[in-house]
Amino acid sequence: MDICIIGSGYVGLVSGACFAEVGHHVICVDNDQRKVDMLQKGHIPIYEPGLEEIVHRNVSAKRLRFTNSIQDGVDHSQVIFIAVPTPPQPDGSVDLSFIERVAREISEVLKKGEYRVVVDKSTVPVKTGEKVADTIRRYNKEADFDVVSNPEFLREGCAVPDLMNPDRVVIGSSSDRATDLMKRIYEPFQAPILVTDINSAELIKHAANSFLSLKISYINAVSAICEASGADVEMVADGIGMDKRIGRNFLNAGLGYGGSCFPKDVKAFIAIADELGVPFGLMKEVERINETMLERFLKKVRESLWVLKDKKIAVWGLSFKPDTDDVRNSLAIDLVNRLVQEGAQVSAYDPKGADKAREWKLIPDSVKLTKTPMEAVDGAEALLLATEWKEFANQDLEEVKKRMHTPMVFDGRNLFDPRMMKEMGFTYYGVGRQVIK
Ligand code: UGA
Repeated sequence: MDICIIGSGYVGLVSGACFAEVGHHVICVDNDQRKVDMLQKGHIPIYEPGLEEIVHRNVSAKRLRFTNSIQDGVDHSQVIFIAVPTPPQPDGSVDLSFIERVAREISEVLKKGEYRVVVDKSTVPVKTGEKVADTIRRYNKEADFDVVSNPEFLREGCAVPDLMNPDRVVIGSSSDRATDLMKRIYEPFQAPILVTDINSAELIKHAANSFLSLKISYINAVSAICEASGADVEMVADGIGMDKRIGRNFLNAGLGYGGSCFPKDVKAFIAIADELGVPFGLMKEVERINETMLERFLKKVRESLWVLKDKKIAVWGLSFKPDTDDVRNSLAIDLVNRLVQEGAQVSAYDPKGADKAREWKLIPDSVKLTKTPMEAVDGAEALLLATEWKEFANQDLEEVKKRMHTPMVFDGRNLFDPRMMKEMGFTYYGVGRQVIK
């Protein structure tokens, strides 16, 4: 099928590449000419395992191309996906101005008698589909189209496998004609397809992300009880996660959830519920717990190091999670900034995120960014692990110990085994775990 995707960010670019990979013809549109130029030259603006190969393969096979022209995309496609950002506003509600502008731009190029399906893939508040349809109709009375909601559930860092093998595909549609076209697009992925009304599909996305955030805050709240009672949160998570009704996924205690989805979507869901007159106190608590995690972690560091001013501290990890260079809304970045505010001398290492952290000025210039994890720990009085990259688990810990001034590790993601760390001579603090004396 001929598909156009407007917006070449994480969701748009990976979706476009994967749709092409299964044989569709895809045009990715972006209004950022620099990004389009880059993509046309074969450069991928984000780090996402497996993406570069897929993009190159499908560009060579002439199934994938890039343009800045919505007209070009709409003229040559049956289905038009909108995958533009929906950033938060200061009050937590969603800024829909990019979606609205794209809806108007699409309406300007839709032609009478040339049916198109306009699909909202961005994460949007319930009832946005109705507004997109109204907008297109208002600006083009003759347009022949349907609007569909098709939320995306891919995770950064494993976006390609998530897209190629989704748990489910949700299609919110009120038109059989549109639903049939959508099913044809997703047929090659062999995933279960759930067809719903548009409002339900939109709500599924916010409800899913909020539920996952809730799981994380739940285990983080339990981690505080573990610390206070002498239990180990990893064992507790294993024990409750073995119940199939609960599941072990997303029960990893740590610094809390970050990134450009969960914090924004929880806030948005709270704002949506408020606006609908059904306040969602539970999600407010989820958010509150998340906001306490960094402070709890820092308290532990201060309790051991006392004053942080002038202390040399190493931080491993800057990206908001492993396998991505995305440093937006990263708790690791917040941690570095807090340490610097308290006067610490910070050396940080991240396998992929360091350049963006510096380029986007997310951390002060005084933070030393090192080329290897070992360099970061040289002379450090404490090592703080903020992102659980596999690379960190594979370091030579004897060498780490030798290089550090004091072998003290604060593990914000419970990557290491406390007993093993103790045996190796480290003083080790995890989240929700006991310090083995
Ligand atoms: C999340 C959802 O998982 C995707 O399904 C969704 O499509 C995406 O948001 C989106 O809305 O676009 P993502 O933000 O890429 O994906 O990353 P996750 O793997 O969900 O992690 C989010 C945050 O939760 C990270 O900061 C991670 O460290 C934290 N987390 C995750 C925990 O603290 N504990 C866990 O057990 C799992």
